[in-house]
Amino acid sequence: MRLDSLTGILTVLIAVFIEDTHAGSSCCHKTRQDLDTLATGISSDVATLTAGISTLTKMVSTLSNAISSIKTDVSDIRADNAGIERKIAALLKSNGQEFCDSTPCDNDGACNEYGYTCQCKSGYTGRNCETDINECDSSPCQNEGNCTDQVNSYTCKCKAGYTGVNCETDIDECDPSPCQNEGTCIDKVNRYTCKCKAEFAGVNCTITIGQLKNKPIVVKIQLQSSLIDDLAVTSRGHIVAVGFTTKIYDSDFTLIKNVSNEFQYVAVSDDDQLVFTDLSRTIYFYTLDGSPIRNITAKVSPFQLNGITTLSTGQLVVCGVRTDGVYIVDQSTGNATTIPASDTFVWPNFVTTNSKGVVIVTDHSGPLKGMDQAGNVLFTYGGTRGSEEGQLNFPAGVVTDSWDYIMTGNYWLGIITDDYSLSHTGSKSKSDVS
Ligand SMILES: *[C@@H]1O[C@H](CO)[C@@H](O)[C@H](O)[C@H]1NC(C)=O
Ligand SMILES: *[C@@H]1O[C@H](CO)[C@@H](O)[C@H](O)[C@H]1NC(C)=O
Ligand SMILES: *[C@@H]1O[C@H](CO)[C@@H](O)[C@H](O)[C@H]1NC(C)=O
Ligand SMILES: *[C@@H]1O[C@H](CO)[C@@H](O)[C@H](O)[C@H]1NC(C)=O
Ligand SMILES: *[C@@H]1O[C@H](CO)[C@@H](O)[C@H](O)[C@H]1NC(C)=O
Repeated sequence: MRLDSLTGILTVLIAVFIEDTHAGSSCCHKTRQDLDTLATGISSDVATLTAGISTLTKMVSTLSNAISSIKTDVSDIRADNAGIERKIAALLKSNGQEFCDSTPCDNDGACNEYGYTCQCKSGYTGRNCETDINECDSSPCQNEGNCTDQVNSYTCKCKAGYTGVNCETDIDECDPSPCQNEGTCIDKVNRYTCKCKAEFAGVNCTITIGQLKNKPIVVKIQLQSSLIDDLAVTSRGHIVAVGFTTKIYDSDFTLIKNVSNEFQYVAVSDDDQLVFTDLSRTIYFYTLDGSPIRNITAKVSPFQLNGITTLSTGQLVVCGVRTDGVYIVDQSTGNATTIPASDTFVWPNFVTTNSKGVVIVTDHSGPLKGMDQAGNVLFTYGGTRGSEEGQLNFPAGVVTDSWDYIMTGNYWLGIITDDYSLSHTGSKSKSDVS
């Protein structure tokens, strides 16, 4: 309801009230003058209110105009912005196209003209996909396999005895078991060993001990070697042959190392090193792989050493050439002690020991002799040229086996049993049994 109509209604009501008082009783206190004053007051208030409202209305109108003007401005700005954005996008697109037109992405990477970026194919990285990711960096090949990087992949070249994508599998050389006669197969890396039952021997337990005693197995294998003077077998099953050349063969006789030095005799020390002698007093120590470690000079009178072996004490036993000396040599100092009984030798050349520490020496011109380290001779065998047993003269090489049988040879192979009787002399072939 508008205020002016309210004023009208009030005026009418007041008029009616005045009429009633004039016409009615004189009961009421209010006089006409009072009412006039009241009406005038109300009228004045209403006028003031009306003026206020009018001012407010004007202000609202002004505000409304201002808002409308702001709205117009905002809309203009929006329009401007849209224009600018379009311009920027167009600019970016044209620059992006230029970017992509310069074929920045190598190795078939896709070019993104909006982001100015290259999306690389799998296996590549870098701003321009220029880097082939090296999948070998994580060293995926196990067990010393060699890794070859390829695009988004790699290949492993496995060490012999291993297989699998990452060379993770040790090939089981015991599957199927090659061990005959109930031998137990033990898988090793790239090889196996058979643990044979007591009466069998050989790589695959195919040889019966009786057979070995009565009919030596002679296997001729042409090694890439000229004259062999001495042989040794290492804990790895490798064969070391010395003579004009020094060579290490795998147990299947494949050559694994040429050692450049020329040695005459060889043994494996108790701490698994190769020890060599040559035409001097020097003793050479090599790793089982055939790499030199050190050398010592044996403090002995002969100018040259012959056969060499080791004792479980770590000491070495060497034969002096063309003298009566067999010596126990300290590995670190070269200090030497002569075994007393050795003065009975003419030309000791090969030496070995057995499980009881007995030193067994072959004499180039005399008998095979076994003695303890104090020099007590425990047995001699052969030694008389022309005698029935003289066939063991000029023996070349001597070894003992795990039963302490002694094997020696010259033009014959002889096996001497633990009661020191000659068990057998084998087929006629000059074989060095060391
Ligand atoms: C791996 O590479 C090294 C160094 O070239 C080499 O000596 C070795 O024999 C290789 N191994 C294999 C399993 O190819
Ligand atoms: C042992 O057995 C394997 C597997 O049957 C065979 O390849 C190898 O020649 C055998 N070795 C000997 C010395 O008989
Ligand atoms: C070792 O030397 C011989 C020549 O004496 C040669 O034929 C052979 O290839 C060499 N082997 C190795 C593994 O060096
Ligand atoms: C013995 O070893 C030493 C180093 O320890 C070396 O200089 C010398 O050449 C070696 N001698 C021989 C004959 O190899
Ligand atoms: C080695 O012999 C020398 C004398 O030739 C001596 O001085 C030294 O003490 C000996 N060393 C050992 C360990 O016996």
